[in-house]
Amino acid sequence: MVNVIGLGYIGLPTALMLSSHGVEVVGTDYNSELVATLNAGKTTFKEDGLDGLFEDAVKAGIKFTTDYQVTDTYIVSVPTPYDKFSKKVDACFVVAAVENVLRVAPKDAILVIESTVSPGTIEKSIRPVLKRESRIDINLVHAPERIIPGNMVYELLHNNRTIGADNTAIGEKVKKIYASFCQGEIVVTDIKTAEMTKVVENTFRAVNIAFANELAKICRHDNMDVYEIIRICNMHPRVNILQPGPGVGGHCISVDPWFLVGDYPSLAKVIDESMKTNDAMPAFVLHRIYDIMKEKDMHDLSRVGLYGLTYKENVDDMRESPTLQLLESQAKHLGDPLKVYDPFINKDVVANQYHNLGEFLDAVDFVVVMVKHNEIKENIDKLTDKVVLDCHNIIPGAYHI
Ligand SMILES: NC(=O)c1ccc[n+]([C@@H]2O[C@H](COP(=O)([O-])OP(=O)(O)OC[C@H]3O[C@@H](n4cnc5c(N)ncnc54)[C@H](O)[C@@H]3O)[C@@H](O)[C@H]2O)c1
Repeated sequence: MVNVIGLGYIGLPTALMLSSHGVEVVGTDYNSELVATLNAGKTTFKEDGLDGLFEDAVKAGIKFTTDYQVTDTYIVSVPTPYDKFSKKVDACFVVAAVENVLRVAPKDAILVIESTVSPGTIEKSIRPVLKRESRIDINLVHAPERIIPGNMVYELLHNNRTIGADNTAIGEKVKKIYASFCQGEIVVTDIKTAEMTKVVENTFRAVNIAFANELAKICRHDNMDVYEIIRICNMHPRVNILQPGPGVGGHCISVDPWFLVGDYPSLAKVIDESMKTNDAMPAFVLHRIYDIMKEKDMHDLSRVGLYGLTYKENVDDMRESPTLQLLESQAKHLGDPLKVYDPFINKDVVANQYHNLGEFLDAVDFVVVMVKHNEIKENIDKLTDKVVLDCHNIIPGAYHI
């Protein structure tokens, strides 16, 4: 039986996937409300295919509880926030979950950490807990997760995976568990390599996005079309440049690369510059707004609206979103806050927020497309009488960053 600890965005789909593929699963979360919701037959967040998977898992006998189970295998998927100042990972949730597991785990149990951690965290922060509790019999494993919100169920089934273990036999045992549902290739390696791969994957994307953002700035400076240039460059067989944008959000690409800067400050120069480049994009967009207003002889900031509050399209996650960063940057200039609207955010989270596209568009003359939700793509005709700054190249004839 597998006891999955932490039933959030990652732990819940993983538990459901295992259960619906014949593995006996108990899901544990210390949030009793969340457990009660699941036991009442409801899922706790929206994701394509999750409800169907939930039904299959319930039929297969999955159980949800606040109690840690006595079993031979644990998968820990609890949050790993980062320290905003040092940028280093904060492993306190993982440590707390591991301490609870050790209270009930039988001898030689396997303890898989799925949470994203920086290289060396398991050695520095988790193994000492095992030693302190005289539980060095426990087999530590790291199996980082790669799935993306919006396409989680498909990616759980199809992505390749990495498993880091102290010895190959344990790695192969864990590989068999994930292979119950994972159709991708599963590589077994050591723990530190597995930790590093997860951080490097997100860093690769951060650096590539930063390169595209830098190109956008160069092209802006000399009036060249960055999208056309990237399109043509990408026709080269060995070039694959990502798209520029108004900044990077979420808690993977905008966070994990900082772990390397925090841990290797004198070595991670390109990464440091890339993260700074991406972090500077919201302010760059703000300056672009001011420039376009000047060009159009517009003076009223209260007639400018930001479309989109989330960190990516068609999800409701606002963590580290470029729009929030832009508003923060604007607040420093003591300007009146811009108007904001996002179809996925029902709560009031910022000043001057609208909850209806029509009312939002009536209130502004200048629309800045910060997020390319399907809604705006389907309503491009409603923007014809507006000045539009399009940060994603989806609106014909609009201004670009
Ligand atoms: N969300 C993503 O897109 C994504 C993608 C890849 C990797 N990850 C990584 O996966 C990990 C989990 O992220 P998430 O987005 O699922 O987090 P989350 O906040 O959605 O869920 C974490 C769950 O763990 C529970 N929890 C915390 N401490 C606990 C404890 N001691 N015992 C029992 N339950 C506990 C919380 O109540 C919560 O329900 C993080 O390390 C994250 O970096 C996330």
